[in-house]
Formats: sequence, C-alpha cells, structure tokens
Amino acid sequence: MANVVVVGAQWGDEGKGKIVDWLSERADIVCRFQGGHNAGHTLVVEGEVYKLHALPSGVVRGGKLSVIGNGVVLDPWHLVDEIASVRAQGVEITPENLLIAENTPLILPFHGELDRARENQNSVAKIGTTGRGIGPAYEDKVGRRVIRVADLADDATLERRVDRALVHHNALRSGLGLDPVDREALIEKLREVAPAILAHAAPVWKVLTEARRAGRRILFEGAQGALLDIDFGTYPFVTSSNVIAGQAATGTGIGPGAIDFVLGIVKAYTTRVGEGPFPTELFDEDGKRLGERGHEFGTTTGRQRRCGWFDATLVRQTCAISGVSGIALTKMDVLDGFEELKICTGYELDGEELDYLPTAAEAQARVTPIYETMPGWQESTAGARSWADLPAQAIKYVRRIEELIRCPVALVSTSPEREDTILVTDPFSD
Ligand code: GDP
Ligand code: IMO
Ligand code: MG
Repeated sequence: MANVVVVGAQWGDEGKGKIVDWLSERADIVCRFQGGHNAGHTLVVEGEVYKLHALPSGVVRGGKLSVIGNGVVLDPWHLVDEIASVRAQGVEITPENLLIAENTPLILPFHGELDRARENQNSVAKIGTTGRGIGPAYEDKVGRRVIRVADLADDATLERRVDRALVHHNALRSGLGLDPVDREALIEKLREVAPAILAHAAPVWKVLTEARRAGRRILFEGAQGALLDIDFGTYPFVTSSNVIAGQAATGTGIGPGAIDFVLGIVKAYTTRVGEGPFPTELFDEDGKRLGERGHEFGTTTGRQRRCGWFDATLVRQTCAISGVSGIALTKMDVLDGFEELKICTGYELDGEELDYLPTAAEAQARVTPIYETMPGWQESTAGARSWADLPAQAIKYVRRIEELIRCPVALVSTSPEREDTILVTDPFSD
C-alpha cells in the first residue's frame, strides 16, 4: 500500500497532468488538494487530447474515484461546463466517481471581476494572474467570509453567507469603481447551480480515511509548481495557495503520515507564465526554439510561456521544500537537436556565489545564473519508452541533473502521449 503526491517543482506546466494520468493506472483514487481552474492539465491518450482545469486528471481513466479536496477553490459554474465538455469526449462522470469536499470554498463571479479589475488597474500591482478569481476566493476563505459547498444545501444559510461576503465586497468594489453586486441575482444563480454540485458533495476526509484503511491507493494531484507557492515561491509573483507536498494533507483531511512518496514533476528546461523573476530566461534563438518545440502556450489562458535553460539550483531547492522522493523528468524530446545545453548550477549576486535563490524579491530579480555546458544529442528521444532508447548524451544529461538536484529520477517522459514514458522506479511500490 502506498499513497503518492505529485507536485510541480518549477513554475507550473511541468507535465503533471500527463504523469498523473499515467500513474493513475496504479491508483484507486485521484485527489486534487489545492488551486482551482487556474490549473491547465493536458492529457493525450491515443491521440485524443483532454484539457482539464478543475477536474482531477484521474477522471479520464474509467473505474477510478476522483476527488476535489477542501484545499481547492471551486467555481461551480466552471465545473458544470468542464464536466459537460469532458462528457462530450466520452468520459463518464457521476456522483459515484466524482466527490467534492463539503468544506470546499466557492469562487463566485465577483472574485473573477475583482481579480481582473486589480490586474488591469495599474502595472505596479500586476501579477499576470489567470484572471479566474483564485486569489480573491482564497482571501475570502482566510477572511472567514467565503461560501462553501455545504452552504448550498440550505437557503437561509446561503443568504446569510452571501450577505456576509457582500459587506466586504461591496465596500471594496465601490473603491475600485465597480457597481455593487446584485444580491438577488447572485442568490438565484447559486440556487440554480446548487443541485449539480451537491450531488457530488461528501465528507472527503472520512472517505479517504476509510479508503486508506481498506488498502486503497491514493494519488494526490498538485497544481501549479513550488515556485508559485504562496510561502516559498517568488512572492508576490505567486498563486494564492500552498502548492507544495505538505498541502496534500491539509487540503484533503488526511494525516501527513499517509504520504509515502512525493513525486516532483520537473521539465527538462524551464518555463514560466505571467510576471516575476526567472534567472535562466532566454530571449534569443534558443529560447524561441524551446517555446516552439515545446508548444509552450498556456492551457488556461493561451499566453506564450517564457522559456529558459534548466535551473538545477531552483529544482534542488523546491525538491527540498516539498520533500521530493523522486522526480519525473518531462519533455526530454524538446531538447533533441540542440548543439549544447546549459544547466544553471548556482547564482552570482554582488560578487558572491549563492547555492539557492534568495528570498527578497529585489535580490531574486538581480541574481545572474552560473552555467555549466553539456553537449546535446542529435538523435530523437521522442516516444522513447526505455533507457535503451535514449542516446548516451541524453542519459548523461539526466544523470547530471540527478546529481545537481540531489534527487533520483523515477520517470522520464518523452512525448505528450500517455504511454511514451520511461519507468525507472515505481512510486507506488517503492
Ligand atoms: P501541467 O500543468 O503540469 O499538467 O502541464 P501542462 O499540461 O499545462 O503543460 C505540459 C504540456 O506538455 C502539455 O501540452 C502536455 O501534453 C505536454 N507534455 C507533457 N509531457 C511531455 C513530454 O514528455 N514531451 C512533450 N513534447 N510534451 C509533453
Ligand atoms: P498548472 O497546474 C503555470 C500563475 C499565473 C500567475 C500566477 C498567479 O497548469 O501548472 P493565479 O491565477 O493563480 O492567481 O495566478 O500563477 N499560474 C500558473 N502558471 N501553471 C499553472 O497551473 C498556473 N496557475 C497559476 O500565470 O503568474
Ligand atoms: Mg498547466
């Protein structure tokens, strides 16, 4: 019996969806524990492409239980639409195979409006968010004025909760020059969507505890990546939740002792969407080539992702913070054909060498990477399914990364397709 947490170890979009889908064959339950529909997880199964935002990536395989944990912020209208769109692709979603924690906070339309109003207000405050209301919804959770799934079940409670939220939001909106929220229309909209959400509502902590006792295997699916973590990321250019492995416990209601293996998902180079520091960012032909070969456009917003060389200093740091047991190295095939590859092994700041990214935003923006250079490989790794299929230089690149980040490689991914994956160590049977 083993439970595995999958987390992003860079700035998101490392290929978590593909790996969770691949690993879910070995799991009984796949559970989201933070974030919301700011996530965009792409799965490719026999040529069919699935784009998931709020739904756990386990939904695509039949016979698995998918769970949305309390650490998530959920836009109920988005969820209804996403369920409809994956159903149209032949995926079965029922109250039996999708559960939503009763204590999950809801993202309401005014959260998205506030998110976008702040982003558009002036360039000083701009984070480059997905505009989906994630930050404002988490603020309301911590501010004790959010509406949760369980509140949808009772009209009087729902009205009280809406009033509580609007005291704060109408004051804020007036300061931002937005009209007050139409209370009656919002309550009506919530009543309309309530049955679709309540059909899936459950005490998730209890379901998971009982499943664990019965020997079921749970896969916890992280969204974003450690450098977007609210505490450990490149603050303030981060998302509004803890995204690191420790959050799997509080975001679902299972004890930290239930986590047996933490799989960090690591792209073989680096990308980032939105604003914020990025020491190894490339503005030259190499960066353009990574973006083109890697199809680096956001699944959620369609924005072009910034691209750069692999930063071993950052990944060593994020693997430590998440307690990563092993990594899945993805998008190796994107590096095929480069003459040379650079790896960042440390930073220089004011004449001093650093072996970690400092915390101060001002210092993060000024560090310059120290690189080592390795020869690339001209052969194709695309679609490789075993070590034997990898060119010698590609193996050297993987081995060097392991050394630098002080963490072993458990999986290597060589294309978007589910089965184009090399298994080194099975996280579930370790
Ligand atoms: P996530 O947010 O971490 O789930 O990652 P995204 O789905 O946003 O972005 C990763 C993109 O890379 C998706 O389009 C995947 O289909 C694709 N992808 C995943 N693994 C590989 C790989 O090994 N090689 C290539 N070429 N593409 C991959
Ligand atoms: P997945 O799960 C990449 C980024 C946004 C922005 C910052 C804050 O697909 O890896 P938010 O809307 O969360 O308040 O935006 O975080 N961001 C992501 N970047 N992948 C993601 O998710 C992201 N989710 C949020 O671009 O910079
Ligand atoms: Mg993504």
